[in-house]
Amino acid sequence: MNEGRFITLEGLEGAGKTSRAGELKAFLERRGKRVLLTREPGGTALGERLRELLLSPTAEPMAPLTELLLMFAARSEHVIQVILPALAGGQWVLCDRYVDASYAYQGGGRGLGEAPVAALEALLPARARPDLTLLLDLPVEMGLARAKGRGPVDRFEQETLAFHQRVRDAYLTRARRWPQRYRIIDASADPETVRGAIEAAVEPLL
Ligand code: TYD
Repeated sequence: MNEGRFITLEGLEGAGKTSRAGELKAFLERRGKRVLLTREPGGTALGERLRELLLSPTAEPMAPLTELLLMFAARSEHVIQVILPALAGGQWVLCDRYVDASYAYQGGGRGLGEAPVAALEALLPARARPDLTLLLDLPVEMGLARAKGRGPVDRFEQETLAFHQRVRDAYLTRARRWPQRYRIIDASADPETVRGAIEAAVEPLL
């Protein structure tokens, strides 16, 4: 059986990743693919418990390195239990956030830099690298306004504008460094336009 492809979706809060991920799953299924849609932090029972600890606005304060290690604890379980078996079984895996989010949020936002993230990424199996990463990019103010308009804010959404600006800068730096793997999608456009841009970016893999 052919191995599936591994696609990740990244972006700021309010970029619309979650809605676009559902549409992309449907698009791939219409093209005959079996698709697993999953998310980080999360995707396993343990990962979802870690997600609660990481996102709860009332969580105990934690050091940036602790936050990074918890993200990778959830990720390790997700890769081993869910992502690699699905790819090996021929499924396409769509993941709402992945390693690039750790570079952007913990490396950029929290100021840890790339080195600790790279050290942990090196521990993941080689097959757990995405074939394609879609960066849904939009101005920070626009993303935060959208995120705040949809209900209670989580521990990251309540961070400062400057934090989110560092996150965006880190994402864009990575996307420009690896143009073969990354596609930057203008998420400030209307949803139909964004959907079309995503489908065009995925088409070459089909
Ligand atoms: P998010 O994907 O935005 O979920 P929702 O759309 O339901 O709010 O929430 C995940 C949060 O976790 C987001 O603020 C980014 C953060 N995050 C990190 O800081 N590092 C990581 O490695 C990952 C995967 C997520």
